Amino acid sequence: MVKVVFVCLGNICRSPTAEGVFRHLVEQQGLGEQIIADSSGTSGWHNGDAPDRRSQQIAKARGIDLSGLRSRLAVAEDFHEFDYVLAMDGSNYNNLLAMCPPGHEDRLHMFMKFAPELGRMDVPDPYYHDGFDSVYDMLEAASAGLLADIRERYGL
Ligand code: 4NP
Repeated sequence: MVKVVFVCLGNICRSPTAEGVFRHLVEQQGLGEQIIADSSGTSGWHNGDAPDRRSQQIAKARGIDLSGLRSRLAVAEDFHEFDYVLAMDGSNYNNLLAMCPPGHEDRLHMFMKFAPELGRMDVPDPYYHDGFDSVYDMLEAASAGLLADIRERYGL
């Protein structure tokens, strides 16, 4: 079993969308029994909340239902539980690195590293802006790259 967790600030916009998009791709490729996805947020500000309605709308228009997801705080234990801890931006990355148990740093990645063709490392925070569509496209591209990386690394 390979386990991945997507992490942003609030866990209501970027990371739950990544979780939904990635899970959909995993199921499309018949790997739902081998790969598990989750998401969390470094702030805890929205603990227990469903994804932002703007994220839900865009995902729904593309056939992905985020309504059942709930925000939770990222914790150090995530580094024991998950093989990949995927930060949406540099700030998330630094916060995660600060809580990472020694020896588990190699599990932490910038998510956009898996979409090198886009030439960027941050998924911009859309909460106070209106970039939900372009954020979705970035998450979709990096999800495909991540899944290819997992398949190669684990022989799936
Ligand atoms: P996310 O977006 O990190 O992609 O879930 C945000 C959600 C909420 C806030 C900031 C970013 N906030 O300030 O409450």
